[in-house]
Amino acid sequence: MLDDKKLTKELINSLSSVTNLKDLELIEIKYLGRNGVINDLLKKIKEIPVGDRKEYGKKINQLKQEIKRLLETKRLELSKKKSDKFFDSTLPGKTYPKGSLHPITYTIEKIASIFQKIGFIRVSYPEVEWEYFAFEVLNMPKDHPARDDFETFFIDAPSDKKMGKVVLTPHTSSGQVREMRRVKTPPIRMVNIVKCYRPNWDITHNPMFYQFEGLCIDRSINIAHLKGTIDYFAKEFFGEDRKIRLRPFHFQFTEPSFEIDVSCGVCGGKGVDCHVCKSGWLELAGAGMVHPEVLRAGGIDPNKYSGWAFGFGPDRCLMMKTGIDNIRILYNGDVRFLEQF
Ligand code: DAH
Repeated sequence: MLDDKKLTKELINSLSSVTNLKDLELIEIKYLGRNGVINDLLKKIKEIPVGDRKEYGKKINQLKQEIKRLLETKRLELSKKKSDKFFDSTLPGKTYPKGSLHPITYTIEKIASIFQKIGFIRVSYPEVEWEYFAFEVLNMPKDHPARDDFETFFIDAPSDKKMGKVVLTPHTSSGQVREMRRVKTPPIRMVNIVKCYRPNWDITHNPMFYQFEGLCIDRSINIAHLKGTIDYFAKEFFGEDRKIRLRPFHFQFTEPSFEIDVSCGVCGGKGVDCHVCKSGWLELAGAGMVHPEVLRAGGIDPNKYSGWAFGFGPDRCLMMKTGIDNIRILYNGDVRFLEQF
């Protein structure tokens, strides 16, 4: 009924041709698996005369132990073989994918270093801000229609009689008066780079975005300084051949105010039939000479000092530089996009 010698011989035979652990596993299943040889033999115990069953059971057990031993020996032999393999230490090592800075982080660092080179210090004023700093001191009192342009997110927090409500800052201009009050006596040269928030959502607007605020206050500061600084920035960031221009505009906290355009890098400023700019120019920033009321709010005498300010988005700069035309792709964390940087 049970020819253990024959079975062992068979097993030894098949083990002799096994060269890898996978095949060894298949043999183990064949012998020791649920429907394997050993279990089949155990099932047959019913057919054995009662008196012989004890002896039969013992034999199966011995056979099982022997099979296990043979399998284990083969396993050891195979794993030893593996480690005996020739190790070529001159082969190049395994490489792992390297991370890189997010394109926005990279752009911010780049912009900050361009301004740091000409003596501007980098600051980060609060993203969760009082209405007072975001609007009041910037010449936009309560109920001023200009506030509608900012469509602000309000925070569900107690308001203050003087400071008003708590908001997510809609622009980095809210850092202007904070910096004036911190420094007290000019000269002031700051760049305030933080996240801003406005409830807009389309291909050129994300509810969270970055802004970059420049502020320069000293004696006899004038528009030529503003123009020279932005021109320097445009050439450093976009390239030597870029030009800028100022266009009259209106902002509540600067007088006079401008929008600043940079010549388009795609058409070289020609404009004709350019799908990116259509006019040869791309809008870069809002800017102007700091309004005397704003200087006063910061504790600075407008009769002694003057200054300029500008504000714009690093995301927009990056888009203009690279041709990315959908701002949301910068913020949705898609690795297929990020890997390209
Ligand atoms: N804060 C303005 C905005 O978010 C941009 C701006 C305009 C900033 C003029 C300035 C400025 O500093 O002088 O739309």
